[in-house]
Amino acid sequence: MIKILFVCLGNICRSPLAEAIFKQKIRENGLESKILCDSAGTANYHVGESPDPRTIEVANNHNVPIQHFGQQFKKHHENEFDYLIAMDYSNKSNMIRELGGESNTLFLMREFDPQAKGEDVPDPWYGGMNGFENVFQILDRSTDEFLHFLKEKHNL
Ligand code: 4NP
Repeated sequence: MIKILFVCLGNICRSPLAEAIFKQKIRENGLESKILCDSAGTANYHVGESPDPRTIEVANNHNVPIQHFGQQFKKHHENEFDYLIAMDYSNKSNMIRELGGESNTLFLMREFDPQAKGEDVPDPWYGGMNGFENVFQILDRSTDEFLHFLKEKHNL
């Protein structure tokens, strides 16, 4: 089983949406027995909470089921997941601090975005629904490419 953890700051906007979108792609590709994914936040502000209502709304708008309870990213996750996917550079540096150093399991989500490789997935928290729709589009195409990468790399 290949295990993926998507990570943002609060674990109520970007990473649970990445998780939900990726889970749907895993199902659509019949890969439920090969790939699993989860999400976490580097901060502890929203531990135990459901995704932000705007995250749920944008997922619903695209018929993507979403259910998650916030959890904080911790060092032990490095041993439990094969890929740690940070939404932005700030998340990545917070993760490196928590891990006590760089990790070859750590990637940025938009390393897989064919349109803007390596940029941040913007934090939509202070904006309106159009920011969430923008995040959805970024995550949809980045997770497509990421799934393609996994299929090639692991012969799925
Ligand atoms: P996320 O967005 O990191 O994509 O879940 C945020 C959620 C909450 C906060 C910041 C960003 N916050 O400051 O509470």
